[in-house]
Amino acid sequence: MTADVIVGRAEVIAACAAAIAELLSDGGVMIALTGAGVSKESGVPTYRGLDGVWSKVPEDIATPETLHREPELFWEFHDALRRVVATAQPNAAHLALAEIEAGLEAEFAIITQNIDGLHQAAGSRKVIELHGNATRNYCTECYREYPDLPSPLPSLPPRCECGGLIRPDVVLFHEGLPVEALTEADRLASAAAVVLVIGTSACVYPAAQIPLITWQNGGLLVEVNPEATGLSELAAYRLRGPAGRSLPALWTALQPLLR
Ligand code: OAD
Repeated sequence: MTADVIVGRAEVIAACAAAIAELLSDGGVMIALTGAGVSKESGVPTYRGLDGVWSKVPEDIATPETLHREPELFWEFHDALRRVVATAQPNAAHLALAEIEAGLEAEFAIITQNIDGLHQAAGSRKVIELHGNATRNYCTECYREYPDLPSPLPSLPPRCECGGLIRPDVVLFHEGLPVEALTEADRLASAAAVVLVIGTSACVYPAAQIPLITWQNGGLLVEVNPEATGLSELAAYRLRGPAGRSLPALWTALQPLLR
């Protein structure tokens, strides 16, 4: 990286922090929509891109149809993901978001598409999980909950005491999002003066709609992503680079500006 790029980046971060501080000083709400990229530096793979999950297995493995027709295949895929999640630790981006929530007087919430629980592990309190959480599981027959399934599983697929198939409490393709989480996310997006869009390709709906709601209401959209996305053109500030570097830098620049 050249000095020019570093100087340019610092200037963008300073200007971005000033714009956010101004909006929050008027009592504005700030939200962050996060995706797989925020956990990349924790060793959790993203879904799209060259090394992404969907470059190795077809997307239709994560469907209710595969779960019920080929439960062993489904669980082989899902258990591999669980093993990565079980050992992953929050990175600098998760920690910066937890510090932002603790340090702001304004209302702040994370709306995440991730199922890894790393925001909560970092200390974030208000976390809305749009796609569920891989640590939770339940029986598809009697709905008994299984929060502590071992990782890796001793045999696949896991079965309930009643004989029913256990499934993870995550949203699969072709399934609706949890209504309560989506309603709260919509409420926050409508109220927000600032939306940080972090580590998401913003191509899966309805999650990708969240920043659009804030932007359509005149809110400030800030994108934190090493690559451009379909939302980039709407972003007032684009912090290019890994979230584990951009978010601590943004918080450092924002802190002294808060009243
Ligand atoms: P994607 O894999 O689609 O996108 C990840 C984004 O993270 C890309 O835009 C990358 O450029 C960016 N990225 C990579 N490394 C980064 C880093 N260090 N810091 C910041 N950004 C980085 O993941 P999502 O947008 O989360 O849904 O995918 C959305 C949904 O599609 C997932 O929740 C999942 C998936 O299929 C279901 O399984 C239902």
